[in-house]
Formats: sequence, C-alpha cells, structure tokens
Amino acid sequence: MNDVIESKNLSYFHSFRLPTEAKQVIVLDDLSQLNSIPGQAYILGAGSNTLFLENVEFPILHVCLKGIEIHESLDFWRVDVAAGENWHELVCKLHAQGIFGFENLALIPGTVGAAPVQNIGAYGREVSDFIESVEVWDRQNQSRYTLTNDACDFSYRDSIFKQNPSRWLITSVRFNIPKKWRAEVSYGELKSLGLPVTPADILEKVIAIRTAKLPDPAIVPNAGSFFKNPLVEPSQLKQLIVRYPEMPHFTSPSGKIKLAAGWMIDYLRLKGYSIGGAGVHDKQALVLINNGSATGNDVLNLARYIQDKVNVEFGVNLEAEVRLIGGQGMISL
Ligand code: EPU
Repeated sequence: MNDVIESKNLSYFHSFRLPTEAKQVIVLDDLSQLNSIPGQAYILGAGSNTLFLENVEFPILHVCLKGIEIHESLDFWRVDVAAGENWHELVCKLHAQGIFGFENLALIPGTVGAAPVQNIGAYGREVSDFIESVEVWDRQNQSRYTLTNDACDFSYRDSIFKQNPSRWLITSVRFNIPKKWRAEVSYGELKSLGLPVTPADILEKVIAIRTAKLPDPAIVPNAGSFFKNPLVEPSQLKQLIVRYPEMPHFTSPSGKIKLAAGWMIDYLRLKGYSIGGAGVHDKQALVLINNGSATGNDVLNLARYIQDKVNVEFGVNLEAEVRLIGGQGMISL
C-alpha cells in the first residue's frame, strides 16, 4: 500500500514554492507499488523543474525510490541509481570514490530519475553522455522495460520521457562511466582553469560559478533556467548577427544554432524586472524567481511578457524549459 498524504500544500514539493495544493500526494518508495499507481497521477521527483501554478485535482506521485550500486569492470564503472536519489549528492559521492566525469553537472538540483527527462546539462556535458540505459515503468502497458540510450532519443533538454510524460515512470538509471577520465573544459569560464586540470579543479570551479550566478532555491525559490536556449537556422543567425554582433551563439549537433536566451533577456534590460511577486533574477536573466509572494498568474504574466519582448526584438520564440502545471495538467506558455 502506498503512503498517502491528504490535502497537501504543494509549496513543500516544488522549489518555486507557489502556494498551491493537491488533494493527494502519494509516496512511491517501493517497486511493488507500481501496479497501484492511479492513472491520472502526476509524477514528481524533487520538484526543481516543475511549477504548480494552481491547485491541482489529480494526485501527485512523489518518487522516493532509493539505492546506489557500483560495479567495476576493466575500463568502466557501471553505476545503477534509483530514481529518488539526489543528483548532486550522487555527483559528490562518485567523486569522493574516485569515479570522475560528472563534475560539470555538480549542483544541478533534482533527482536522478528526473535527470534523463530533460537530459540535464551544464558546462559542455549532458547526462546522456553517461547513460547506458534507463529502467522504466510503462504506465500505458503496465510493464517494466529497460530502454537503451538510443531508445531514449536524447537531445538538448529533450528525451522521449519529456515528449510523453504521462507514459513513462523512470525507476532507475544505469550509468556507464569510462575509467579513462576526459576533462570537458570548453565552456568559457572553465577554459581559464588551464591545463593540466583535475576532476577536483572542475568540480570546485563549477560549484563556484553556479553559487555566484544562480540563486540557491533553498533561499530564493526558483526552478533554474526558466526558458530553453532557442535553436535557430544558420540563415536566421546571419541576419541577427548583423544587428547584434556581440550576440553569443553556439553550433549544436543538429546543425542548428543555439542562442543564449539569458543574453537576449539581459539585452532587453529585464534583469530584476518583476510582475507581482515573480521576477527576473538580477545575476542570471534566464532564471525567474519567486520573491516570496508570487502567484501562478504572476509567473505566467512575467513569462509571457518576456516571450513577447524577445519575439518583438529578435523574432525568436522562447519556450519554457520548466514544466508548468495548471489545475488540469501540463500547460504551455
Ligand atoms: N548571458 C548574459 N546575461 C545573462 C545570462 C546569460 O549576457 O543574464 C550570456 C552569458 O554571458 C553567456 C551566455 O549568455 O555568454 C550563456 O549564459 P550562461 O553560460 O550563463 O548559460 P545559459 O545558456 O544561460 C545554460 C543552461 C544552464 C547551465 C548553463 C551552463 C539552459 C536552458 N540552461 O544556461 O542550466 O547551467 O548553460 O552550462 O540550457 C538549468 O537548466 O536550470 C540551468 C541552470
């Protein structure tokens, strides 16, 4: 039988801490419970990428599965991690045991089970670089599967889990980490570390950059980057760069060009701008924050205002990176 918490204040269950409620929160801490998950339940990890904008009618399934198993082979570490484990704690634990590769992904809030959903990434690394397979409960067919990395269809902040969220429940992730460590220091601020560089140097630097730029959700409620960095065609970049020669841009594996949404919002002088209790962070324009009194409407109004401004100035459409949940389910901007 699942643990059920009735009539729950959702501000404790998501890092943006909007004052909303669910009729029921169900705690999933054992695989034997999978068969009894209500069909309409919304699956939640740590709530660091989800905003509950209104009271919700459907139950919330809070994934709290725990366990880490490490196996060593000649050239690789194979690490099986249950979905409810904390991501940053995993990064630190592996680092302390001499298992390196995740340094660039330090301090990303959230759970291990949420990491593949939006293919978390930072400073030149994406979690999909290390995922061998993902264990899932298929809610459609009521059965368990192992999905290979290829089957997950990972790309920038995207995967099959993000495309079809009501179908898949991730129960654990299998990482395959080469023992031969390769530093990833191509990101601007990591280049300054110079060579040779150690995993500890990168870990320390990433923690320093994130601490300086990004608000700590335990102090200032937020959900990290609110928008995705938009992908545009090279032809559109050509036109933009004539008008905005200093605009940062990056090539992506698909051949499209990734623009920096934070730079565009900053260019429009929206850092620190607020509507009601929702604001743009004053050090990283891609992050929206809850000043303490934000409502779901404040957040939507602010996000749509930014979207409009960026569209008018640059002709680029910003999409939400976070999940926005209304009373009846997921909504888009
Ligand atoms: N920029 C500004 N002003 C700002 C913000 C950014 O000018 O207010 C410029 C920066 O100077 C830089 C460029 O925009 O030239 C990109 O900024 P930054 O390196 O800070 O990264 P980002 O593109 O804004 C992405 C991820 C972050 C991740 C960083 C580092 C997305 C949506 N966000 O942000 O992820 O930590 O790169 O790799 O891809 C998250 O997903 O929650 C998150 C924080």
